[in-house]
Amino acid sequence: MIMAGGSGTRLWPLSRAERPKQLLDVVAEPGGGAHSLLAEAFTRLEAVLPAERIWVCTAARYGEQVRAALPRLRADRLVLEPVARDTANAVGLTAALVADADPDAELAVVSADHVIRPVERFADALRTAYDALAARPRSLVTLGIRPTSPATGFGYVRRGGPTEVPGVAEAAAFVEKPDRSTAEEYLASGEYLWNSGMFVWRARTVLDALAEHLPESAAGLARVVAAPAGERRTAVLAEVFPTLPKISVDYAVLEPAAREPGRVLVADLDVDWLDVGSWPALAQTLETAGGNAVRGLSVALDAAGNIVFSDDPEHLVALVGLRDSVVVHTADVTMVCPVSDAERVKQLLAEIEARH
Ligand code: GDD
Ligand code: MG
Repeated sequence: MIMAGGSGTRLWPLSRAERPKQLLDVVAEPGGGAHSLLAEAFTRLEAVLPAERIWVCTAARYGEQVRAALPRLRADRLVLEPVARDTANAVGLTAALVADADPDAELAVVSADHVIRPVERFADALRTAYDALAARPRSLVTLGIRPTSPATGFGYVRRGGPTEVPGVAEAAAFVEKPDRSTAEEYLASGEYLWNSGMFVWRARTVLDALAEHLPESAAGLARVVAAPAGERRTAVLAEVFPTLPKISVDYAVLEPAAREPGRVLVADLDVDWLDVGSWPALAQTLETAGGNAVRGLSVALDAAGNIVFSDDPEHLVALVGLRDSVVVHTADVTMVCPVSDAERVKQLLAEIEARH
């Protein structure tokens, strides 16, 4: 399943509530075109699974855009949430539907906001994670990435003892979004991997883990799938889903489960990986011109280290003497900030929403 219901607030004003980052055509193609991160996530999974086995879970309001972006997605594989209740409930709802159809189903959960190269190595890692599940059917397997910076926007997994599957270790701890100094310690220790936000487990296992650690969600979701598929189930979903606790699967399931020895495993994912969550991350997918990362029409005089993005091909962005700044132009909003404040765009947006 692809989790594709986030709102991508740190990429404002490009990413909007009505059209979030995973649906924007931000991944440049060699020929000059571009496609969305969601389309890329779907194609990436097709390296391992046929299209008809891929599920997508998103907010109801993105349903039409998701269908348009994914022509090979089967109509009955699209799971629509009436409101966003974060990934614990997105995973729980989809797992409940999958388990309803096949109680033994093994479920890979992936994010919709990643750029991963090369795809073959991703496919190998996913197959290895499925091997780990074959060896230890009740485990929760996360795909882990060697960290390159003390990033605070990721989960960290401490590698424990080996398993019978090469490339897969037991997870000795899982810490979601640690503070800066903790992240620095983790990086220096060499014992931690980043949680990639991609997991493999039996649908049943993650539902059991939810029942243990987030019983309100498990009970609510059980009510949803107990209703007959169709209008009745949609009505129960609309009633129940908004009442579920809003929390991510990392906090709700992985952190507590990793306290149980051997419950969480971590499979190495050795790829070039980018979570396109913020302007500096998106900049890594852009072309560089004169020392600036650029999309759209722009001119820069004695200006470097900037991220310059215009989504209007007719609109010229002109810089002189500017350093290390983000300049984003869209039809109705222009946003400018130092690159070092790029993480605060989320806060800026909250401020704007509170005032208007
Ligand atoms: N269906 C649905 N519903 N999807 C959601 C929701 C929701 O309410 N909220 C987020 N998503 C989707 C996003 O679109 C994205 O594809 C994925 O779930 C992960 O959500 P993010 O909001 O991007 O999470 P994150 O980046 O802060 O953290 C996660 O990913 C990191 C790696 O990229 C965690 O798993 C971290 O531990 C991990 O390091
Ligand atoms: Mg993310």
